[in-house]
Amino acid sequence: MPRHEENPVTVIGLGPMGQALAGAFLRAGHPTTVWNRTAAKADPLVAAGAALAGSVEEAVAAGGPVVACVSDLAVLRRLLDPAADVLAGRVVVNLTTGTSREVRETAEWVAGRGAAHLAGAILALPRDIGTGTSLVLYSGSPEAFERHATTLRGLGEGAVHLGADQGLAALYAAAGVTLMWSTLNGFLHGTAMLAAAGVDASTFVEFARQNIATTAGWLPGYARQVEEGSYPAPDATVESHLAAMDLLVRESETSGVDAGLPRFVRAVAERAVAAGHGRDSYAALVEVFRRPAQP
Ligand SMILES: NC(=O)c1ccc[n+]([C@@H]2O[C@H](COP(=O)([O-])OP(=O)(O)OC[C@H]3O[C@@H](n4cnc5c(N)ncnc54)[C@H](OP(=O)(O)O)[C@@H]3O)[C@@H](O)[C@H]2O)c1
Repeated sequence: MPRHEENPVTVIGLGPMGQALAGAFLRAGHPTTVWNRTAAKADPLVAAGAALAGSVEEAVAAGGPVVACVSDLAVLRRLLDPAADVLAGRVVVNLTTGTSREVRETAEWVAGRGAAHLAGAILALPRDIGTGTSLVLYSGSPEAFERHATTLRGLGEGAVHLGADQGLAALYAAAGVTLMWSTLNGFLHGTAMLAAAGVDASTFVEFARQNIATTAGWLPGYARQVEEGSYPAPDATVESHLAAMDLLVRESETSGVDAGLPRFVRAVAERAVAAGHGRDSYAALVEVFRRPAQP
């Protein structure tokens, strides 16, 4: 691993993730300054060579990018506010989770203090930080990303800049988890139904994998339909999916498992049919997701 003795970095926030970030910077050889409300959490990092700042202002002034990783963005603003004078000309690499709107507002707030803002969304667990498996998405200042890309790759080879829009990293992260939870819920609901017939979860895995791969193969075609706003259905229509969804609800009830997930899936398709998409392809459901349901 290359050493970076000349590239200092500051980490603000030493929860499980901040500690992992600071540890990775230290292992990569960066002079690392840390600050945390509860200073004792810095002890292992100080033992490993980190400098403990006595205030956020002192931490920001230490030099290099200011990597911020606290519980939420309101906390971050409160912490950075007293350091406004030393923020000018600095780069804030904000790895604190928030909605895209909150991130954009924070970026404007940081810019108002004369600093560059690079937004980041961590798609990894603390134990993965600094390994080849961690992925951190970035958006916002392209110059800041270019300048600090080598340092940021110390957190994991997967460091991707998505564009200048500060909210993009948060949006991609949200899109990633909606995909992840939908897939996992399908797997676990299927597992519960199969368990009613004595099939164990491990036996289901190979079938589930193939099913996910087949579904993934449909994505490019559906993406084209979404972009064109036209949903021709040479084979399965939303109406035909709806009939299969009815069957899934009944199968869930018959098998004695919770039918809430298939009922929700059916309700979305029913809204698409009510909006005139019954003869369209499944991709037309994007029209339902684009508009919040009326209460
Ligand atoms: N852990 C993960 O697996 C993971 C994965 C991806 C992204 N993230 C994101 O990383 C960020 C940090 O997460 P985390 O897991 O390290 O733990 P966390 O519990 O979300 O955040 C803990 C950090 O926030 C600080 N904090 C909270 N309230 C504060 C306040 N009022 N004033 C000053 N500091 C305050 C804590 O300081 P004290 O130590 O003094 O309490 C600590 O440094 C979050 O935005 C999280 O969503 C975490």
